[in-house]
Amino acid sequence: MKPAFYVTTPIYYVNDVPHIGHAYTTLAADVLARYKRLKGFDVFFLTGTDEHGQKVEKAANAAGETPLELADRVMKRFQSLWEKLEISNTDFIRTTQERHKKGVSVLFERVMEKGDIYLGEYEDWYCTPCETFWTETQLIDYKCPDCNRPTEKLKEESYFFRMSKYQDQLLAHIEANPDFIQPKSRRNEIISFVKEGLRDLSVSRTTFQWGIPVPGNDKHVVYVWFDALTNYITALGYPEEGGDFEKYWPCDVHLIGKDILRFHTVYWPTFLMAAGLPIPSKVFAHGWWTVEGQKMSKSLQNVVEPNMLIDKYGVDAVRYFLLREVPFGLDGDFSHQALIHRINSDLANDLGNLLNRSTAMLGKYFGGVLQTPGEESELDKAYREKTVAMIGQVDGFIDELAFSRALQAIWEVISAGNKYIDETAPWTLAKDPEKRERLSTVMYYMLESQRIVYTLLSAFMPKTAQKGLSCLVGSDEATAEGLAWGGLKPGTAIAKAEALFPRIEEKAE
Ligand code: MSP
Repeated sequence: MKPAFYVTTPIYYVNDVPHIGHAYTTLAADVLARYKRLKGFDVFFLTGTDEHGQKVEKAANAAGETPLELADRVMKRFQSLWEKLEISNTDFIRTTQERHKKGVSVLFERVMEKGDIYLGEYEDWYCTPCETFWTETQLIDYKCPDCNRPTEKLKEESYFFRMSKYQDQLLAHIEANPDFIQPKSRRNEIISFVKEGLRDLSVSRTTFQWGIPVPGNDKHVVYVWFDALTNYITALGYPEEGGDFEKYWPCDVHLIGKDILRFHTVYWPTFLMAAGLPIPSKVFAHGWWTVEGQKMSKSLQNVVEPNMLIDKYGVDAVRYFLLREVPFGLDGDFSHQALIHRINSDLANDLGNLLNRSTAMLGKYFGGVLQTPGEESELDKAYREKTVAMIGQVDGFIDELAFSRALQAIWEVISAGNKYIDETAPWTLAKDPEKRERLSTVMYYMLESQRIVYTLLSAFMPKTAQKGLSCLVGSDEATAEGLAWGGLKPGTAIAKAEALFPRIEEKAE
């Protein structure tokens, strides 16, 4: 039986349309899912939309729609973007679906039966954009300490989750599992937060309707974060604890942005502890994108729309850029110039050109038919060993979610390929009939190294990998067996490859 692997993205609020920030998390999850599938895992890759809560209700009112109408409309935009971005998710969960609502009610009820959810009264400050409560002392000038926007004072009857009870257990869990919260800087941030003391958490609201009713008291709706976080198990069929739940839970990795770390590493694990369910193995928080040096915001009208980027530059160029440009975990800046630069230098010059040059040479010198390689020289050996070492490096980097380093390792081999051609100078070998065998070897090494490169690239740039593999092996499917030297069979016909990435004029915006 294949080992199971479960990866998730956050579920996106439907009050906003998708932008590169959303595309980024989803893309990272997709690369991980594709890579794990390539390595023989049975992958469950979940994404979806977060459709309840005051924020969505307000947006719907402003648009003159019901919240569900808004959600129906916006979730389609997410779904169609994911198709366009070649996202290979297994499931797409919406928090308005029956399967989800049922699971949330059961989880709430179980924690309540245990005595860890109780009825009390709330008097605190609420930040609607963040859907978060704050005490007066936490506010900065009566504004939200996270986003600096105005908060509202709320006094209402509320159910509370006894989060304080789980403080020590949570701290012990974080300390005993150094990989649970990543990157490390984020882990330290959460450890200090927990050490400052956990307060009980308000987990219901009475001032609006758009949510899942609290079991047994429909004056209340379940707090949107309790509702949303539970998606990670309702999509697996919870409260049913067999089937997908048994197979995939606990989750291998929740990928999220840094702004929602506390919800995933404090609230979510303590809810699970209270329900007696296992804790996810890893939560990784990536950084935020700014645009041309500025925060992305509707009011600045600088929101980068992924559909437009894909239309303009192509899906794989966008996929490559987002994961190559910035180390996963750090903040990054988006600019058209940086994207164009990556396309021209890494994709057109290095990757595309190598395939183009080498297949053209095979055509010219051997009528496009791969020959049996002869004796291996020192130069060949170094190139082969570098290619084989890349397989292990990429594996390690992907395990650490260091996507840009994985791509860097692949590009070192691509550069080594271009250098190998310059050093072996096939055009000189071709002039000497006695060097036919040497020329055969050089051709074989050049193309075989690229076959492995494209096999690994199938996780990052599926369409480009398909083109590369179709050209080299006549099948567009990347396989785990393909991750070993010697896959190319002498006698194979390899036609000259088209340019994979045409250069873009730098003056283009
Ligand atoms: N609905 C909640 C998540 C619930 S998960 C159980 C939510 N939704 S969101 O739509 O506001 O944000 C989703 C993700 O997009 C977050 O991980 C957030 O970090 C990410 N990003 C939003 N803007 C971003 C950037 N500018 N850059 C990178 N990621 C950003 O929060």
